[in-house]
Amino acid sequence: MLDAQTTAQPHVIRREDYRAPDWMVPEIALDFDLDAAVTTVHAVLKVERNGSDAGPLRLDGDGLTPESVRVDGREAEYHMDGDTLVVPLDGAMHHVETVVRIAPERNTQLMGLYASGGNLCTQCEAEGFRRITFFPDRPDVLTRYRVRMEADKTRYPVLLSNGDPVASGDLDHGRHWAEWNDPFPKPCYLFALVAGDLAVNRGTFTTRSGREVQLGIWVREKDLAKTEHALEALKTSMAWDERVYGREYDLDVFNIVAVDDFNFGAMENKGLNIFNSRYILADPDTATDQDYDAIAGVVAHEYFHNWSGNRITCRDWFQLSLKEGFTVFRDQSFSADQGSAAVKRIEDVRALRAAQFPEDAGPLAHPIRPDSFIEISNFYTATIYNKGAEVIRMMATMLGPQKFRAATDLYFSRFDGTAATCEDFVRCMEEAGEIDLSQFRLWYSQAGTPRVTASLSHEQGSDRALLTLRQSVPATPGQPDKQPMVLPLKLKLFSETDGSAFGPEQLVLLSDLESEIAFEGVSERPVLSINRGFSAPVVIETDRSAADLAFLSAHDDDPFARYEAMQQLMLDTMIAGVLHGRTDHAPVIEAVANTLGDERLDAAFIAEAVLLPSENFVGDQMATVDPDAIHRVREALRRDLGRSLEGLWRQAYEASRADRFELTPAAKGARRLRTVSLGYINAGGAPDAAGLAFLQFEQADNMSDRQGALGVLANGSSDKRVAALDIFYNRYSDNGLVLDKWFSTQALSGRDDTLDQVEQLARHKDFTLANPNRARSLVGAFSVNQRAFHDASGRGYRFLADQLLALDKLNPQTAAKLLPPLGRWRRFDADRAEKMRAELERILATPGLSKDMFEQAERSLK
Ligand code: PHE
Ligand code: ZN
Repeated sequence: MLDAQTTAQPHVIRREDYRAPDWMVPEIALDFDLDAAVTTVHAVLKVERNGSDAGPLRLDGDGLTPESVRVDGREAEYHMDGDTLVVPLDGAMHHVETVVRIAPERNTQLMGLYASGGNLCTQCEAEGFRRITFFPDRPDVLTRYRVRMEADKTRYPVLLSNGDPVASGDLDHGRHWAEWNDPFPKPCYLFALVAGDLAVNRGTFTTRSGREVQLGIWVREKDLAKTEHALEALKTSMAWDERVYGREYDLDVFNIVAVDDFNFGAMENKGLNIFNSRYILADPDTATDQDYDAIAGVVAHEYFHNWSGNRITCRDWFQLSLKEGFTVFRDQSFSADQGSAAVKRIEDVRALRAAQFPEDAGPLAHPIRPDSFIEISNFYTATIYNKGAEVIRMMATMLGPQKFRAATDLYFSRFDGTAATCEDFVRCMEEAGEIDLSQFRLWYSQAGTPRVTASLSHEQGSDRALLTLRQSVPATPGQPDKQPMVLPLKLKLFSETDGSAFGPEQLVLLSDLESEIAFEGVSERPVLSINRGFSAPVVIETDRSAADLAFLSAHDDDPFARYEAMQQLMLDTMIAGVLHGRTDHAPVIEAVANTLGDERLDAAFIAEAVLLPSENFVGDQMATVDPDAIHRVREALRRDLGRSLEGLWRQAYEASRADRFELTPAAKGARRLRTVSLGYINAGGAPDAAGLAFLQFEQADNMSDRQGALGVLANGSSDKRVAALDIFYNRYSDNGLVLDKWFSTQALSGRDDTLDQVEQLARHKDFTLANPNRARSLVGAFSVNQRAFHDASGRGYRFLADQLLALDKLNPQTAAKLLPPLGRWRRFDADRAEKMRAELERILATPGLSKDMFEQAERSLK
């Protein structure tokens, strides 16, 4: 048992300490005698000495006790060094056999072998394999796996593992067995097995060189009808990776299993992806358009890992962004190709700003290639994933499509079958791209979001405009001084008089602290469009007036830049409101009216463009966040927009009504605009708004419309609110994924009593911390509801800390990921900051705290 003393200072692991493994394990034979209560794992490792070190074999374990250890067939001497099994070995090659017993049904951490909904499954990334058997649990040890599973045939009729099925058969006492073989050497974090009562939706895909691949999506029988979208997305992804990256699938089978209890989104185990069921199951009645898109995106992401992650893996966990940043970039590009690329870019940037920018500006800031960690699970962050993807995107932008493709080809061919580093990847970009990325590498080592100030001057009567750019990178924990970085900025100048451009778009690489760029042939004061397409993940500060921004929001020919100009205009307006009380809403109202009335724009884009930046995002721009003032000012602007443009909202609402359900980009865009319009009609206080929402709620033939209407009602105080929540609950009480929506819709409400409601919901019979999706749907959603969470009483903070401490006992990994909102204390007034700190101190002082929570809480206090 851990006590208060022994939790004191967990071990810090440093990137600079990397050493090649002393022993390799070219082969393993794993034998599982599967049972939920007690599973016996018998492992035979062929081990080979690596290098000249004469040391013993050290095998990682986590909570394992060896029942027997044999070397080359004989009982062997061994000892335990903490959780590590140490076996002295004389020769250069041996066979080491171990037997351990584990208890899947008592595994609440959901790492290693665990039970979910009566089935058994595994999760090994990052360090879960050591909870299954003794092994050198590090990604640079690549092993060929042969897996034999034995289990009760009635409870576990389906037995799956990585690679190809080899053989299977029946045994006495109602038991059966199956054997799988994976011909590709892999790190142990990619190991997987599933045993369960599962139905399958099968498909096939023929690769461009003619290999026929058997695809299978495995779920519970009752969910089988909800797997078609995932299967289609898988086929589309396989074809896309062949076409865009020249990557073909390499095994005869590709299986995906959906489970309800999962710490993350999904996992790319070789040939056997395991998914959180929320990223597989969909039908129009239970999944929103956003869910459909997320499913396709995650299916693609995990599939793409087969090359960027599995064929080429990471040398050590500090290189995590090598596979995650690149694979996110790949899935973003895939999704952009399936619908509106502009809207996809807007969504990705919104996600980056919501999750990564605050991380980069707070106590948990870290570079995309971190230098140290205590618990690697804490580094599956928006920085590694999303900023990592932006870094790849910048290189793709600088190289251009042909050279970028040549560079990825080079990377895939040079490092296939190896465990590589970020440096290896960058060197391929340099070689094939014929470009020097020395300074660009700072993106891998420096944390913090760069800021760029841009000011454009034009002398009246002259033919020349001068743009001055300055960059600064803020100090972050452990990195007080920063060097200037390479920032690829796409820009263009426009004429205010007729909306035409002064020359084509330019790509400027800002690499100095300050730089001046002259534009010739500019006969009048131009309007600056900068960081088009969000070409660099930075914050841009300009002196552009409301009129300039309104102009760009109507005339810029880059859709992202149009969106961005509108966002900036809205942001400036709200910030002025918070800082100076009253503010002029007219420019925003006019710009929104223009966008709504622009017939060249599609509904999906309009719906994104007219949405106000979130309360959190407004807060992120301020020196001290005032959650109540931000809420008040934003609601006032919403009300004004709703009221002044009521006719236009009603027009948009009617125009986007559909006769029948379709999943085309156009139909999805129309639904989005419909619910956004409904929200504004309601915000404007129209007397029939609640009735309209309730009608949409009741008549909906799809979840987007239904949940959209529910969200509008849940924010208000009409008598329809409780009715709708009850109807929704009763209609979907047997569907966990939809109940998650019921919890999160209430936790995200802007009502005054949300904190009380959330405290009550935590006692609801359907609330449980044991299921990560459910925990996130209430606790996670509430903690990003800025006003409710930051209630001046401090009750929101106490609620979160209580939930985190309870969850830490069950599932430290999921608990620790929910802590960061408490770490934002520096951004709030002294009173709130003190209350937030007090909760962090209380967490840190709790006996038996996991190292996951310890690391997050301790760093958050610094
Ligand atoms: N590697 C997974 C992905 O991004 C994420 C993951 C990490 C899943 C750790 C489970 C555990 O695709
Ligand atoms: Zn991934």
